[in-house]
Amino acid sequence: MIVRTRNPDATHELAGPLTVAEVLDRLDVAPHTVLVIHDGELVTADHELPEDAEVEVRPVISGGAGTPRCVVCRGPAVIEEPRHRAAWCGAHFVDHVQRQIRKAIDHGHGLTPGERMFSYTDRMLVAVSGGKDSLALWDALLAMGYRVDGLYVGLGIGGYSTRSQEICTRFAEERRATLHVVDLAETYGYAIPNGANAAGRSTCGVCGLSKRYVFNRVAMEHGYDVVLTGHNLDDEAATLLGNLLRWNDALLARQGPVLRGGDGLQARKCKPLYRLSERETAAYCVVRGIEYVVEECPLVAGNSGHEHKAALDVIEAGSPGAKAQLLFGFLDRQARLSRGAEEGGAAALGSCARCGMPTTTDVCAFCRQRERIVAVLPQHEEAV
Ligand code: AMP
Ligand code: FES
Ligand code: ZN
Ligand code: ZN
Repeated sequence: MIVRTRNPDATHELAGPLTVAEVLDRLDVAPHTVLVIHDGELVTADHELPEDAEVEVRPVISGGAGTPRCVVCRGPAVIEEPRHRAAWCGAHFVDHVQRQIRKAIDHGHGLTPGERMFSYTDRMLVAVSGGKDSLALWDALLAMGYRVDGLYVGLGIGGYSTRSQEICTRFAEERRATLHVVDLAETYGYAIPNGANAAGRSTCGVCGLSKRYVFNRVAMEHGYDVVLTGHNLDDEAATLLGNLLRWNDALLARQGPVLRGGDGLQARKCKPLYRLSERETAAYCVVRGIEYVVEECPLVAGNSGHEHKAALDVIEAGSPGAKAQLLFGFLDRQARLSRGAEEGGAAALGSCARCGMPTTTDVCAFCRQRERIVAVLPQHEEAV
């Protein structure tokens, strides 16, 4: 069916039949902020719209002049989101963010019917960088009653790393939560700046592989069921654009908010913030009084992910919701689009001959990278 939303104007194609409530849910529109019009008639939430319906969703809460009002309580709003055609007061914004996380956990893309990202009995580990996303995620999940500990990986990037670690430590202490800290230099004999030089690879490449390895290793060694990261809608849309520009079939087939683990070697990985923008997670931290590192990693300059984000921001400014439409539209079609890549068969997972962690080759990518790095760096005794 074709759904036209107004102010800003956009057209969405949805597979039907769907009820009005389902359509509004797909579009992330708060039902009481709009009128839904089908065949010139107003229709209510449980009205079923046929496959070939043409529907208009018309906003009824005027913004524009005067103070924006919260769409829930009509109190003064503290944030407006053109993508949701809504504004909220602080308390209702917190509800909105937690509702989007709940939606990701219970009905996220890639989950089979009835499957959840995780449950209240799972032991979870959230990887926290000290930035807005991962701390917002940790805060929200604790507030929602989940059992979740934190993991900070010390990357050795000067004052940026020191400040990030302090913020994570303080966050954990204030909430009496458990935080694991793994220092890359102490444990593995290299930090990101000298490791990247020694490896002759991009900083972000070395950093990404190292982080993913440590997340999984800590999860396996401490018996966590799920690893969570703070990847948000902007991150995921930028990654998607990068994968599309390179037509990287393997990554396109795997990209998504849920990556299933396997064989007692690999933890399940989930991204419960994939429905929320960067701006929303930052605003959540401000409203909740969460202190986070505002500065960016000083080594990311020239990272193609940032260029893709900037390109998408230009499009989003002209048509609010475009990023979400790109990402969710892809995830809706992913199974169909990547069937060929899956049939090609994923290589079998075995244990790394050096460290025992999962790999599709003899020695895992992390150990191969680390061997290249430590071969050219002077080593301290403690590194394993
Ligand atoms: P980034 O790759 O920097 O965009 O970060 C993506 C996610 O990885 C963050 O939201 C965190 O969940 C996690 N992360 C990034 N850096 C660290 C770190 N130093 N320690 C632990 N987790 C991290
Ligand atoms: Fe990984 Fe900056 S955080 S390169
Ligand atoms: Zn309100
Ligand atoms: Zn290994």
